Amino acid sequence: MILVTGATGKTGSATAKSLSDMGEKFRVLIRNEAKKQELESLGAEVIIGSIENVEAVEQSMDGIDTVLILLPNSEGQLKLEKQLVDSAKQSGAKKIVKMSSIEATPDATSPIPKLHLESEEYIKQSGLSWTMVKPNFYMQNLLASAGTIKDQGKIFLPMGEGKTGMIDTTDVGKVLAKVLSEDGHESMNHEITGPEILSFYEVAEIFSQVLGTEVDYVDVPLAAYKETLGQFLTNQWHLDAVIDLFKGIAEGGIEEKTDTFNALMGDAPKSLAQFVTENSFIFKA
Ligand SMILES: NC(=O)c1ccc[n+]([C@@H]2O[C@H](COP(=O)([O-])OP(=O)(O)OC[C@H]3O[C@@H](n4cnc5c(N)ncnc54)[C@H](OP(=O)(O)O)[C@@H]3O)[C@@H](O)[C@H]2O)c1
Repeated sequence: MILVTGATGKTGSATAKSLSDMGEKFRVLIRNEAKKQELESLGAEVIIGSIENVEAVEQSMDGIDTVLILLPNSEGQLKLEKQLVDSAKQSGAKKIVKMSSIEATPDATSPIPKLHLESEEYIKQSGLSWTMVKPNFYMQNLLASAGTIKDQGKIFLPMGEGKTGMIDTTDVGKVLAKVLSEDGHESMNHEITGPEILSFYEVAEIFSQVLGTEVDYVDVPLAAYKETLGQFLTNQWHLDAVIDLFKGIAEGGIEEKTDTFNALMGDAPKSLAQFVTENSFIFKA
């Protein structure tokens, strides 16, 4: 039996859908009771409780072989991930799959990649079998720009000429479901990008082509962007960490795509043009 954490979020819900499509048995630990029915309709066994609640975590681990550790970024993320690893080990689980990030490399200095790397190290030292799934920037992050794309034909971000290999979260969910449900991925780092390495100027061009209306990328100074983002992200640690991550993209980002998705899934990952097409009802005025 597989335990999925983060199952009501972007990648966790995509993972649950893929596991359901594959006919896999899985359990989820969620704190939002309103999502219970939706997950049950996918065949999931649902435990209601917070990852911060030791009893709920222990209950959710009972009889589990494989655990997906997938948590949102916060100052407490590393501590919670370590607690999940300890609980998995104590309850007799054999394998951990961790949602990490492609930026989590030994030379990482930014808080989010650093915490992922530290969590990876903790998992490796636990003695449990492990696989790290390490995606690049999610295409879904662009949904935060939907309002300005629709109203002004502009994407305001502080990424300069930096590049990413954006990937759709449904594709990340497919990879996670595969890695969770089969053997052969032990001690592997699956670094996942989408099919293209793009600057945000190129991202805007793709939006223009698909939507049939001009969309421009406006490179916003990092300090000004931080002030705007701070109106939405009120936790100072999280705000600083996201800005640091974006600074890393502005300083270059990533240069090369990986073929991990193709190799694992026997298919190409979704292109940005496909993503914009599928979500055009959100981006179009
Ligand atoms: N965004 C990117 O471009 C990107 C790229 C690579 C890697 N990542 C990594 O992806 C991870 C985030 O994944 P995501 O975007 O899919 O996350 P997300 O959409 O923010 O979802 C987070 C999930 O965790 C659940 N959760 C949070 N605290 C919980 C608690 N105390 N108890 C139970 N459940 C809890 C949330 O439940 P609720 O619905 O109840 O809130 C939700 O299901 C991060 O570790 C990030 O570093 C992100």
